[in-house]
Amino acid sequence: MSLLITGGAGFIGSNFVHDWLATSDETLVNLDALTYAGNLGNLVDLRGDPRHVFVHGDVCDRALLDRLLNEHRPRAVLHFAAESHVDRSILGPGAFIKTNIEGTFTLLEATRQYWSGLQGDERSAFRFLHVSTDEVYGSLGPGAPAFTESHPFEPNSPYSASKAASDHLVRAWHHTYAMPVLTTNCSNNYGPYHFPEKLIPLMIVNALAGKPLPVYGDGMQVRDWLYVRDHCSAIRAVLAGGRIGETYNVGGWNEKPNIEIVHTVCALLDELRPHAEGSYKRLIRHVADRPGHDRRYAIDARKIERELGWRPAETFDSGIRKTVQWYLANAAWVTDVQSGSYRDWVAANYAAR
Ligand code: NAD
Ligand code: TYD
Repeated sequence: MSLLITGGAGFIGSNFVHDWLATSDETLVNLDALTYAGNLGNLVDLRGDPRHVFVHGDVCDRALLDRLLNEHRPRAVLHFAAESHVDRSILGPGAFIKTNIEGTFTLLEATRQYWSGLQGDERSAFRFLHVSTDEVYGSLGPGAPAFTESHPFEPNSPYSASKAASDHLVRAWHHTYAMPVLTTNCSNNYGPYHFPEKLIPLMIVNALAGKPLPVYGDGMQVRDWLYVRDHCSAIRAVLAGGRIGETYNVGGWNEKPNIEIVHTVCALLDELRPHAEGSYKRLIRHVADRPGHDRRYAIDARKIERELGWRPAETFDSGIRKTVQWYLANAAWVTDVQSGSYRDWVAANYAAR
C-alpha cells in the first residue's frame, strides 16, 4: 500500500511525512518541484528509508503523474503542493495561477483516470484529499462568528483566490465525476521547517540576527494559529474517516493579533537566548501595510471534532515554545534556506516599506 503526496518537501508536507512515518509503514511517494519553498533538508533524516520515495517533478506534468500513479498504485492522493505566500502572490500572481489552479486540475484529471481503472475494494477505498486554507472565506469583522464550512467563499488575495479556485475544481470533480474527494480548510500553521518568509519564523530569525521585526500596519490583524503537527493529525483523521465530498475546517481555537504573536516570540527569545542590549522587542518596527490585508481569520472547528473526534493536542503556549526551541536548535537549517533567492525576496518585499 502507498500514498502519493504532493508538496511533501515544503513546510506542512514535510511535517506530514515525518508524522506519517512515525506511526505507519505504508510507503509515501513524495512528488515535489523543489521551488524556493521546497527543501530536501527537511527530509534528510529519511535518506535511505524505503518507505519514502522522493520524486522531483511538477504537478502540472501530466505524463509524470500518469507514470507515478500507474507505477505505485496509491490508495490515496494527498495534495499539499501550492504556492503559499500571500505577499509573493501580490508581487507575482502568475505562479499561483499555474500551480494552484492548473496544477490541481492536472492532478485531478490524472487521478480521475487512474481511479476510473480501479475495481472493487480498491476503487471504493480510494480518496483524493485536497489541503486548503481558511483564506478562501475572506476576512471577518471583529465580532463576526468564526468561519464554518458553509461560509461563502470571498477570497481577497491572488493566493486565496487561486486556492478557492482549486477548492471549486475539487468540489466539481466530485459532483460531476463522483470522484471520492475530501477537502480540509485550515487556519495559519506554525512549527518546525516553516520557511522564514512567514510571520513567526521571520520574526524568530530576524530577532536572532539583530534585524528589524517588520509588523505590517497596526499589527492588529488576527489569525487563528495551529501547531503544524495538529494539522497533520487532522489530515490523518479526515483521510481515515471523513465523509466523501465533504469539507472540514481545521483550527486551533486560538485567535491572536499579530503584534501579540511578535511580543510572545520576543519574550521567549528573551528567556531562552537573552541579548546583552535588552529585550528583542526593541527591534519591532511598524511598516507599510500589505495591500488588501485581511483583517481577521477564525475557524469554527466543531464539525471535525463532532464527526471525527479531532482536537488539537498543543496549546499555543506549548506549540510556540517548541517552535522557538526548534529554531534555536536548528541554526544550520536556517542558514541553508537563506540562499541568494531568499535574500532577493527580502529585498523585494521589505525595501520599499
Ligand atoms: P510551502 O510553500 O511551505 O510548500 C509548498 C511545497 O509545494 C514546496 O515543497 C514546493 O516545492 C512544492 N511545490 C510548489 N509548486 C509545485 C509544483 N508546481 N509541483 C510540485 N510541487 C510544488 O507551503 P505549506 O505552508 O507547506 O502549505 C502546504 C499546503 O497547505 C498548501 O496547499 C497551502 O495552501 C495549505 N495551507 C497552508 C497553511 C499555512 O499556514 N502554511 C494553512 C492552511 C493551508
Ligand atoms: P503570513 O505568515 O504571511 O500568513 P498569512 O498572510 O497567510 O496569514 O502572515 C501572517 C500575518 O502576519 C498577516 O496578517 C501578515 C502579517 N505579517 C507581518 O505583519 N509582517 C511580516 O513581515 C509578515 C511576513 C507577515
